[in-house]
Amino acid sequence: LNGAATGGKTRDIVEKLNETGKNCVIFYGSQTGTAEDYASRLAKEGSQRFGLKTLVADIEDYDYDTLDKFPEDKIAFFVLATYGEGEPTDNAVDFYQFITGDDVAFESGGGADDQPLSSLKFVAFGLGNNTYEHYNAMVRHIDAALTKLGATRIGTAGEGDDGAGTMEEDFLAWKEPMWAALSESMDLQEREAIYEPVFSIIEDDEKTSEDEGVYLGEPTAAHREGRAKGPFSAHNPYIAPIVESRELFAVKDRNCLHMEISLAGSNLSYQTGDHVAVWPTNAGAEVDRFLQVFGLEDKRHSVINIKGIDVTAKVSIPTPTTYDAAVRYYMEACAPVSRQFVATLAAFAPDEQTKAEIVRLGSDKDYFHEKISGQRFNIAQALQSITSKTFTAVPFSLLIEGLNKLQPRYYSISSSSLVQKDKISITAVVESVRLPGATHMVKGVTTNYLFALKQKQNGDPSPDPHGLTYQITGPRNNYDGIHVPVHIRHSNFKLPSDPSKPIIMVGPGTGVAPFRGFIQERAALAAKGEKVGTTVLFFGCRKSDEDFLYNAEFQTYQEQLGDSLKIITAFSRESSEKVYVQHRLKENASLVSDLLKQKANFYVCGDAANMAREVNTVLGHIIAEQRGMPAEKGEEMVKHMRSSGSYQEDVWS
Ligand code: FAD
Ligand code: 2AM
Repeated sequence: LNGAATGGKTRDIVEKLNETGKNCVIFYGSQTGTAEDYASRLAKEGSQRFGLKTLVADIEDYDYDTLDKFPEDKIAFFVLATYGEGEPTDNAVDFYQFITGDDVAFESGGGADDQPLSSLKFVAFGLGNNTYEHYNAMVRHIDAALTKLGATRIGTAGEGDDGAGTMEEDFLAWKEPMWAALSESMDLQEREAIYEPVFSIIEDDEKTSEDEGVYLGEPTAAHREGRAKGPFSAHNPYIAPIVESRELFAVKDRNCLHMEISLAGSNLSYQTGDHVAVWPTNAGAEVDRFLQVFGLEDKRHSVINIKGIDVTAKVSIPTPTTYDAAVRYYMEACAPVSRQFVATLAAFAPDEQTKAEIVRLGSDKDYFHEKISGQRFNIAQALQSITSKTFTAVPFSLLIEGLNKLQPRYYSISSSSLVQKDKISITAVVESVRLPGATHMVKGVTTNYLFALKQKQNGDPSPDPHGLTYQITGPRNNYDGIHVPVHIRHSNFKLPSDPSKPIIMVGPGTGVAPFRGFIQERAALAAKGEKVGTTVLFFGCRKSDEDFLYNAEFQTYQEQLGDSLKIITAFSRESSEKVYVQHRLKENASLVSDLLKQKANFYVCGDAANMAREVNTVLGHIIAEQRGMPAEKGEEMVKHMRSSGSYQEDVWS
């Protein structure tokens, strides 16, 4: 650890708080931006309702060995997401290792035994997903570690559950008692919240949206100027050409895309089993709706400068930009709207009746569910459902504060790096859902964008099949509709290094994506004369002639791999009873058990909410039954397989 100041910026949080006159730091450990968003919301509420002087801080930007000098009259918040298999987010790895390590050492020399953090008061909220084994592991471990080191937690450690879809309500329910406890501990006086913008938005009449310095969707200045170069990363995406795109199947309201994206010349590399992140664009129809609802239509192309009013406020939208570009490329404008955000708009309602309705929605959870979240409305749809009047009084700063930054979405790369080193495949199902009783279709941002790109790339005469009118012809520098911004994320989901080792793969639906890569790789190795071990794929879909992804291609691999490849299918809608992959696993219990005895790796990919969990349970049963053990012992064996890396998951919900 390096406690010294670097590049003029201090890494000492105590010094930073003193320098900036703050009494509250809100650290976030965030992977996709959600924890960062909650941290910002807590900061805003803390300052507006309780007069706290708040600083939001990426936990990676500080060292931790001065936490023992944390002043008693200040407070540290930890808003921490749990990632993957109970791991810290990338930016929280160092903090996690430091604070939970055996030899934790602070500047004053205190170690774990003598409670060096006795002056530190903290608040903790975790973001997790109960469909994963290590639910909210991060906040639990950090809470325990800080407490062990003598720190005092204020309120309970909150746990939000993305798996149950209750993150927002868990957060709202946790924060009120937390604020009460914090007010008492720090002697804070609650005041009537008066909205104070975090950002100043200055319209620049001198410039037009065509001016070179104005951001129109580009992620960085280098992209804007057409001189982006590597290394490409999560902060610097590569604008990659799409070299092929086609539909793997298309039936009413459901289709699945296969795309080939070239990495040639980018210096990006991937390994079979890695993920690619796609940076999306919001649908034109939703951008129009948003601008209309907030009365910004007429000046959508006005150039705006966005600046933090407080020096510590981070502007996440590249600036200068335009209202149109800010909403289209940089804001998560189509996500389900939160109750708290709707409530903040009451003060800016166009009339008293609308205001009363918004206040009711903000304070009545069930009513909000009935009218808004049950319909999965985004912010503009929600306001349109209340009144046809426009909300011209809402400050644009409030919209930036209330909405997440538009996030890249991850896809499991469905090709083998051995077979196509410079080209990645994506297998993505286009998300279009009509909820029971809902009046409109909910459309996924990225997958519908990719679909529109496919139409454009193939020169389809109808580039907007869903009426979403994606802006895919501009703006400049390769945003021409057949390029897409991407970055690669390396994963631990990997084939065994010895190809002769058997593997069992379970991947229904798009969960087959990485396994297409695995099988492609093993077929290529076999063609080179390498000995390839038994390769079993359990694949499930609705009907053999409807959504059997890569069926024809798998037959080719079958010819190349012969008996060593076994594809076992579960078609769920071909008989009166549902047949799922886990049923097929059970039917093939002795094969599965034999292969595990031969040290097979077991892989699961796809739906985290139900499938992955059920497969885990079924595997425990199989092991127990086949080896004549009690059920608990089977479960334990699966746990052991997980910790030793022979049971690997690549799942999402
Ligand atoms: P989003 O806009 O993010 O919407 C997500 C869901 O919410 C959709 O079901 C959508 O219908 C619904 N929704 C949209 N708007 C609203 C609203 N206003 N209110 C409520 N609900 C709404 N997917 C694949 O197809 N193939 C893969 O190989 C794959 N691999 C993945 C690997 C990892 C590690 C992870 C984390 C995810 C993976 N996914 C994969 C899922 C993928 O990242 C996206 O989540 C998925 O494609 C949907 O993205 P989207 O932008 O289209 O939808
Ligand atoms: P269903 O939609 O007919 O219920 C890919 O989506 C396949 O996964 C489909 O055949 C789908 O079946 C099936 N599926 C749905 N729920 C599942 C579960 N809990 N476990 C395994 N497969 C499931």
